[in-house]
Amino acid sequence: MGHMGQGESVTRYYDQSTALFTRYGPGRGLGAIHRPVWGPGVSRREEAIHYSSVKLLAHLQNRQPASVLDLGCGVGGTLCYLSERYRSKYTGITISPKQAQQASSWLGPAATRLGSEIVIHTGDFTEAATFDCLETAFDVMYAIESFVHVEDPGAFFQTLSQVGRPGGSLILIDDFQKKAPVRDSVERSELEKFVWGWRAPSVLTHERLISAAESAGFELEDFDDWTAYVSAHGLRDYVLRAFSPVLSLGTRRSEWCRSMVGGNALKQLLRREVIGYGFFRFSLTR
Ligand SMILES: C[S@@+](CC[C@H](N)C(=O)[O-])C[C@H]1O[C@@H](n2cnc3c(N)ncnc32)[C@H](O)[C@@H]1O
Repeated sequence: MGHMGQGESVTRYYDQSTALFTRYGPGRGLGAIHRPVWGPGVSRREEAIHYSSVKLLAHLQNRQPASVLDLGCGVGGTLCYLSERYRSKYTGITISPKQAQQASSWLGPAATRLGSEIVIHTGDFTEAATFDCLETAFDVMYAIESFVHVEDPGAFFQTLSQVGRPGGSLILIDDFQKKAPVRDSVERSELEKFVWGWRAPSVLTHERLISAAESAGFELEDFDDWTAYVSAHGLRDYVLRAFSPVLSLGTRRSEWCRSMVGGNALKQLLRREVIGYGFFRFSLTR
């Protein structure tokens, strides 16, 4: 088998696993492929899944953007949530054609209720050419758990600085490396498993992430550490951990098994605060 680029392998990962994620993952029934965030006052799974969307909605209501871009929109759960509550022109990009198809098939009717418009596009958001056929100058851009998949963070921020409106915002909600350097050999090996299992080459330290963004003209305006809200252990995590050797056997053939191995490692890393989960809000200064 030839070597696959990061983009291609992420496409395969999501084309193969999306049905399982949306059926059995924590965001099941809500069109979300991200983790629940058990922030203050959150007691139900739905609320925990919508936690990021609630924060984004507050930002939209505050800034009143005419156009919003979801970077790595999955099957569109967040777009659905936002477009039903704040009227705007939304664009969602995903590298997985299967996700794009699924998102387009159910988002049309949801959007028309409030008069929002939604366009779903298949492509790589780190490549400028992806935006050639889209209306750009986005006022608000956000990425929920998609930045870690990026091979080249510099290209990501550079491209977004071209398609974002000057003065507009970019919000990243994702994992970052909280402890650096990682000297403990167990932690190092868990980190490798996570990066491999989740196809997540861009688990950057806070400093590296911010400096990559600054090099492209983005300035950090707000940061919130949500690590404690995602690191709670449930029964499901213990069961998965117990089955971890079995899952490892399936990783050659199944993207889903591979993702479970990465997810198991991530739980340990979050608990030890090697990895953190955060909300980063930048403004485009150019
Ligand atoms: C963990 S899923 C999150 C999906 C969605 N944000 C959500 O919260 O439900 C990661 C998403 O990032 C997308 N993605 C990763 N790398 C991408 C890239 N280079 N270009 C476009 N989409 C990408 C995947 O296709 C997938 O939709």
